[in-house]
Amino acid sequence: MPMQRVFSGIQPSGVPQLGNYLGAIRHWVQLQSEYMCLFCLVDMHAITVWQNPEELRHHTLTQTAVLLASGIDAQKHILFNQSAVYAHARLGWIFNCITRLGWLNRMTQFKDKTGKDRENYSSGLYVYPNLMAADILAYKATHVPVGEDQKQHLELTNDIAQKFNHDYGVTFFPQVTPLIPPTAARIMSLRDGTKKMSKSDPSSQSRIDLTDDADTIRLKIRRAKTDTEPLPTHPDELTERPEAKNLVSIYAALTNTTINHVLETYQGQGFSTFKTALTEVVINTLTPIGQETERLLNDKTYLLETLRNGAERANALADPIVSEVEKIVGFLS
Ligand code: TYM
Repeated sequence: MPMQRVFSGIQPSGVPQLGNYLGAIRHWVQLQSEYMCLFCLVDMHAITVWQNPEELRHHTLTQTAVLLASGIDAQKHILFNQSAVYAHARLGWIFNCITRLGWLNRMTQFKDKTGKDRENYSSGLYVYPNLMAADILAYKATHVPVGEDQKQHLELTNDIAQKFNHDYGVTFFPQVTPLIPPTAARIMSLRDGTKKMSKSDPSSQSRIDLTDDADTIRLKIRRAKTDTEPLPTHPDELTERPEAKNLVSIYAALTNTTINHVLETYQGQGFSTFKTALTEVVINTLTPIGQETERLLNDKTYLLETLRNGAERANALADPIVSEVEKIVGFLS
């Protein structure tokens, strides 16, 4: 049986928010007991849209601290920033030459991000999914824990792996299995239940950051958009109520239960009662992470050393794999 290896990444384009935590980070922490894991701050992905250099550096360190504070074990597993391991760029280029334009044109995330203004976006944003495939396949990772929004990119990763194997007549790359959480795979904005919660949303009121203190969390949940109806009896009745559904999903995910079960408790009640309960579970989960993050951020040398050590170990895994790929495609070695 091939070795089972987990790879996942997060863009240091802001502070991780509750959606990142429930859709990804929380599962990364759990998977550490089952798999050998690599977790990557994908700074090369972040610059596909403009990043202020100082802020990018700052967010990369903050994210490192948040991941450690959330329970990522950088000793047993590997935590590093993407640009420090050249294998990603090397393999990313080769995948640019494998992926067909037609495949990229189908990527919904690119279409959603660029809208009608497509011509003004970077070519890096367009080929972003190729680099994402390279991130994973440079380690021959087999399992990739992500939120729902990344599913299509993982299907593309499998298409790229298959086409590479086919074109060169090898069985080199494995197929990857997406690991998508059953609840909270897509947390929505607190201001608009039809939009994904995102760390790059201009409105900080739309999300809860993992570094928000209790008062900020309280205020954001109090201001979160809802409707005037009480909570219903059945989950189906939430279909047309995206904001209500989102808050119930967050509560269910944080208390490790189902939407059904949450409604059994809160059916018929208005949002003021429910929001108070929700605020409490969010604060209980996030404030210890926020406090530990703050403590870790006081020791930048430690954070930099952690990333440097992670990059060294990541490089030792990826370099031989990508060198082998370069041999397969015919580069002189
Ligand atoms: P990014 O930085 O947008 O998000 C990091 C992880 O958080 C999940 N996520 C969410 N889950 C639920 N609800 C939300 N509102 C929400 N917002 C974000 C994402 O699905 C993701 O798992 N392209 C990736 C980063 C990446 C990557 C990779 C991931 C680069 N290379 C290789 C896996 C494997 C991204 O932009 O994630």
